[in-house]
Amino acid sequence: MSQQQWSAVDGYFTDLLGADDEVLRAAQRESDAAGLPPIAVTAHQGRLLHLLARIRGARRILEIGTLGGYSTIHLARALPEDGRLVTLEYAPHHAEVARANIARAGLADRVEVRVGPALETLPILDAEGGEPFDLVFIDADKDNYPHYLEWSLRLARVGAVIVLDNVVLGGAVLDPAAGGVRAQGVRTTLELLAKDPRLDATAVQTVGDKGWDGFALAVVTG
Ligand code: SAH
Ligand code: DHB
Ligand code: MG
Repeated sequence: MSQQQWSAVDGYFTDLLGADDEVLRAAQRESDAAGLPPIAVTAHQGRLLHLLARIRGARRILEIGTLGGYSTIHLARALPEDGRLVTLEYAPHHAEVARANIARAGLADRVEVRVGPALETLPILDAEGGEPFDLVFIDADKDNYPHYLEWSLRLARVGAVIVLDNVVLGGAVLDPAAGGVRAQGVRTTLELLAKDPRLDATAVQTVGDKGWDGFALAVVTG
């Protein structure tokens, strides 16, 4: 199998099922034009996040790693009118691009972009003592995934869904020596998912426009 075939199937699915639209494509274009790296979820991965949030009936969503807000828009569109999404982003430039994309999507009233290293903004969020989250999407720096999982458990309600992007990393997850701190971070996180009695988890490999990668998915059970 080749990247070309994986992309062709993604294109076929996109034409058939309409995973994106003009607003999402504009968010992607603006992110590219602003020089952001091309690492947002694909249209269908975004659609999967959207559907998971709807299946969960999520009213409060936390995202760690905003980039240009592409996945943010997919997720926030699943919220009811009084729902809320908080997304955490380290880079001020990414946050600025994301805010414009989110506003163009008509979601500015539901989405808050917080700037700073997530390990600093997560404790602030916790200290504010808001309602717990129904869904968390972890997609920032991979070496900190173990910490992000711990914070997610602290901030999410029982029954919440936790989704982690990039748990395959083109196969580097099996080769932490070559994969470096990112692969090691993912492996430690998968081990936490496996052994934590408060979580039921699985991991699913994906191929498509973004090559070979995958999601881990967990439900908070207690
Ligand atoms: N979820 C986005 C993609 C996120 S890419 C989408 O699919 O559309 C990862 C993002 O995490 C980048 O914008 C990067 O700047 C941000 N990031 C990296 N380290 C971070 C940290 N320590 N705290 C918060 N965000 C971080
Ligand atoms: C990278 C980060 C991501 O979240 C992703 O989905 C793909 C690549 C990266 O940092 O290279
Ligand atoms: Mg990712």
